[in-house]
Amino acid sequence: MGINIMGMGSYLPEQQLTNDDFKKFIDTNDEWIRTRTGIYSRHMAGWEPAWYMGLKSAQKAIENAGIDPNEIGLVITSTITSDFLTPSIASIIQHEIGAYNAAAFDLGAACSGFVYAVDTASRFLDTDNSLKYVLVVATEALSRFVDFKDRGTCILFGDGSAAAVIEKSDKIFSSFLASDGGGAKKLFARNVQIAPEVKTENNFDDGFPEKPMHQLYQDGKEVYKFAVKALPKAFNSASEKIGIKSEDIDWFIPHQANVRIIETAAKNLGVSIEKFIVTLDHHGNTSSASIPLAFCEALEKGLIKRGQKLALIGFGAGLTYGSVILEY
Ligand code: COA
Repeated sequence: MGINIMGMGSYLPEQQLTNDDFKKFIDTNDEWIRTRTGIYSRHMAGWEPAWYMGLKSAQKAIENAGIDPNEIGLVITSTITSDFLTPSIASIIQHEIGAYNAAAFDLGAACSGFVYAVDTASRFLDTDNSLKYVLVVATEALSRFVDFKDRGTCILFGDGSAAAVIEKSDKIFSSFLASDGGGAKKLFARNVQIAPEVKTENNFDDGFPEKPMHQLYQDGKEVYKFAVKALPKAFNSASEKIGIKSEDIDWFIPHQANVRIIETAAKNLGVSIEKFIVTLDHHGNTSSASIPLAFCEALEKGLIKRGQKLALIGFGAGLTYGSVILEY
């Protein structure tokens, strides 16, 4: 059983920060950021909620798919930067788009989130015949969860959203999802605050480095080493299941973290970098929104066409990784 991506949509907040803008508050320069990461500029959400960005991209995806929102049976939102602990962003979007017959939940698999969500959508569609369309929305406002004094981290991330309307089809499809929680401490943001009335002294060591709440911490070098291995492994594990080779793939759409990670992965897979969609230069790392944002841009440019075979490959905090191979 495969899936058909009927329509996609994206949304990027207006404000952008270029590498030069960072010079105003940290000791950095454009040359360092470009050569180490490939990033030049990224969008910043400001006060725009993550759910609002998600709504905007979802509305475009629904319009492009040409469907009635009432026929969406499930909304899955991928995010690690939700505006609320509860409710889910998916429920807010479900209501705002008028998908009154849909179930809704958020999914958290960090930068692998879109891949996880598309695979989850395919499994729901496969097992529930009453389900017609699934809406997958990836929306992220990373700028609210980075320390703008940490020059090794803050320059990497950006905000944005992209969405896809998915239906069941008999096109080729394969997926592979994985997690290595042994690497959880290498990339995390704390979400715990104890009321002083409950306890004043922290007598529980959770084994994670002590870091401020709601600020992304990473061991950049370790994450880099993980990423260059995870990317080819995720693709190979998904492709082997259906006997597809890297040369059969028209476009690779990897998570957009660092151009050097993508170049190394392309080399390890023996694939020309020309076959990789790269948008991180002007998006930065938008976590789970990065793959569908790159996908949308490639569609708008006319690069990706119907009938082509695509490999979506994600990796990120968890540490999670995974790949979905599909026909567009
Ligand atoms: N501007 C200028 N100098 C900077 C800088 C910046 N923005 N950030 C760090 N530096 C400095 C460091 O302080 C260090 O200086 P020192 O040698 O005097 O101590 C030097 O540059 C090298 O830093 P280092 O951390 O070793 O650089 P690196 O080559 O490992 O690159 C990353 C850093 C973060 C770009 C790289 O490790 C990376 O991309 N890792 C993966 C991160 C990622 O993708 N995370 C999300 C995954 S989903």
